[in-house]
Amino acid sequence: MSIVFEESTRTFYLEGSGMTYAFFVNKAGFLEHLYWGAPIPREPLFHIRVAGSGYATASRPGRDVIDDPYWSYQLCPPELCFFGLGDYREPTVQVVNPAGDRLCELLYTGHEILPAKPPIPGMPSLSGGETLVVHTADAVTGFAADLYYTVYEDCPALARRILYRNGGGEAISLRRAFSFALPLPGREYDTLCLPGAWGRERRAVRRPLGPGVLAVDSKRTSSSSSMNPFLGILSRGAGEETGEAWGFSLVYSSSFVLKAESTFDGITLITGGVQDFDFSWRLAPGEEFAAPEAVLVYSGEGLGGMSRGYHDAFRQHLIDPRRAWEPRPLVINNWEATYFNFDSDRLLAIADAAAGTGIDTFVLDDGWFGKRNDDTSGLGDWVVNGEKLKGGLGPLIDQIHQKGMKFGLWFEPEMVNEDSDLYRAHPDYAIAAPDRSPCYSRHQFILDLTRKEVRDCIVEAVNRILAAYPIDYVKWDYNRTVTESWSPALPTDRQGEFAHRYALGLYDLCQRIVKANPTVFFEGCAGGGARFDPAMLYYFPQIWTSDDTDGEERTHIQYGTSLVYPLSSMSCHVSVCPNHQTGRITPFATRGAVAALGAFGYELDSTRLTEEERKQIREQTALYRRDQQLILAGDLYRIDDPGRGNFFSEAVVAKDKSRALLVTYRRLNPCNGNPHRLRMRGLDPARRYRIEEMNLTLSGAVLMGVGLVPRYERTDFSALRLHFEAE
Ligand code: GLA
Repeated sequence: MSIVFEESTRTFYLEGSGMTYAFFVNKAGFLEHLYWGAPIPREPLFHIRVAGSGYATASRPGRDVIDDPYWSYQLCPPELCFFGLGDYREPTVQVVNPAGDRLCELLYTGHEILPAKPPIPGMPSLSGGETLVVHTADAVTGFAADLYYTVYEDCPALARRILYRNGGGEAISLRRAFSFALPLPGREYDTLCLPGAWGRERRAVRRPLGPGVLAVDSKRTSSSSSMNPFLGILSRGAGEETGEAWGFSLVYSSSFVLKAESTFDGITLITGGVQDFDFSWRLAPGEEFAAPEAVLVYSGEGLGGMSRGYHDAFRQHLIDPRRAWEPRPLVINNWEATYFNFDSDRLLAIADAAAGTGIDTFVLDDGWFGKRNDDTSGLGDWVVNGEKLKGGLGPLIDQIHQKGMKFGLWFEPEMVNEDSDLYRAHPDYAIAAPDRSPCYSRHQFILDLTRKEVRDCIVEAVNRILAAYPIDYVKWDYNRTVTESWSPALPTDRQGEFAHRYALGLYDLCQRIVKANPTVFFEGCAGGGARFDPAMLYYFPQIWTSDDTDGEERTHIQYGTSLVYPLSSMSCHVSVCPNHQTGRITPFATRGAVAALGAFGYELDSTRLTEEERKQIREQTALYRRDQQLILAGDLYRIDDPGRGNFFSEAVVAKDKSRALLVTYRRLNPCNGNPHRLRMRGLDPARRYRIEEMNLTLSGAVLMGVGLVPRYERTDFSALRLHFEAE
């Protein structure tokens, strides 16, 4: 891994695992992109420049330093784009100057190569090594932008961000402050995004990129289930393991936008960051605005290579290193077993019936606090409900611990019900716009995290519980989105700062609660998986993937989520049938096999299981513990996309290729159906593998080239787990 600046050509070569990234400082001082793709030698790349072959009508800034009559910004593949001065593409930044004009011309003023990547104060980002910082500034106003680039030797990721600074003498306003710009050559690409909704999170959608601008975004002050902060650009015809893929993922949890612009000048421009709709940010002289980090991954091995690149980047450099590789708690959660209707005896009975099955953590979900017998009251009052938990929380936790299990507790720290002591004491802590009744959602409001006194109040209440009891695990939920983006703490002309300030407030909360309680294991959640993003992964090593626990639906949700996020980050639980969300009945074994492709657990009433189901739980937990290193550290190879046919198959292969786990699922059992020939992926072709369940030993070459024929049960929704051991 190295970052090199070649003085003679003023070219930066960034060489990371599996990639080269190159750009140069042109004669005007503009940062002109040259290349991002598979590794190449450090040769001059100027033969690809379009300047000079462009059209004569291009506008250009009034300067003669470029000895090319056709030179213009519009024709240069940019590292950063600004509006005006002849460039009509999607800008990376827009600033309103004291005079009211919106121009800036950010040109090179210098660079540094840092041995260690500096963190972004107050924001999550990847850790990492060598980092290039390129300084640019506008000579007229003093407005400046520092572009950060980090490459890695252990994953094909490139971390990028921009730090904006007002170097002038008067306040200015940012209207857009994106994190990166990246031009790809040509316009023949497909796009990949992860839209969804509650219960249908991250359903992968691929489509050709046409002319114009494609945007994927959220305006919800959360990353949201409606669109994940990820955009993939794929070479046409790229497949699961073939062709090129470029991924763009934002380490960000608030409103965002990612755009792909197919320009008539022959490039595809990708850009994005903090959502610029409803955004403005005042910068006083000397002040800075840090755009969140974007993680870019290059793959020459199709979608699979891109996903493995993200999985490695997030496991090695984002998820808390103390947790990333650690065996995960094997949870039983009482939510679907009891909803709000429980007392200590009922909870202990569930724990009792789970103890000894291999389940090692009991998680008490919503309803243990305040006056909380349904979702109309109690949020915000983080005091134990003594009517439900007789004797309080202490004796319950002690008894769970005595059963040899750990104890987890649910919180929804960002929320308040109108019917709560917190709201009665501080109605202004809830987000609302002046003179308007706020929107209700699940009978609750969101607390104004932009205000320090509100955050202090939350931190005090949650940390008080965590300090008072020996709690091992916390599930941090977030069950609605912001509707009124307004805070009394911000002046009228700064209300456009609200959504980003909410994210900064959330990160501050996480820092002071999650990072301040290092012995507690934290799981993220958001009304299912509505805030499943890299910024949350920085705090929560795993996130509840979806409230939809139906075995069939989960194949689609987990498939889409796996495009970017590692299996170990997806909390996946086995629940009862008929499924509470869909009413569907699937075999217990199938639910177990699908959930085992994640951070495994149960969400059911263990007192109502049949002997057969209890036996299956014991087998499933033992198998999960046996396979957990693959889930934590293996390479994922997707084989069958459930959105394209009757099957869902995924293999996880150890990095040294000594072992693999294959989960394969057949949705419907057709009468007289054809056998499903499944070709393995990711094995070492030269080694021989024994497939335990089939009593078969074959070379990796045969298993991948010829394949095998799984023997599914003669029923719908049938799944198999096959283990491969190298000889
Ligand atoms: C959300 C979560 C569920 C559960 C409920 C409790 O919907 O996704 O798992 O915790 O809240 O109210």
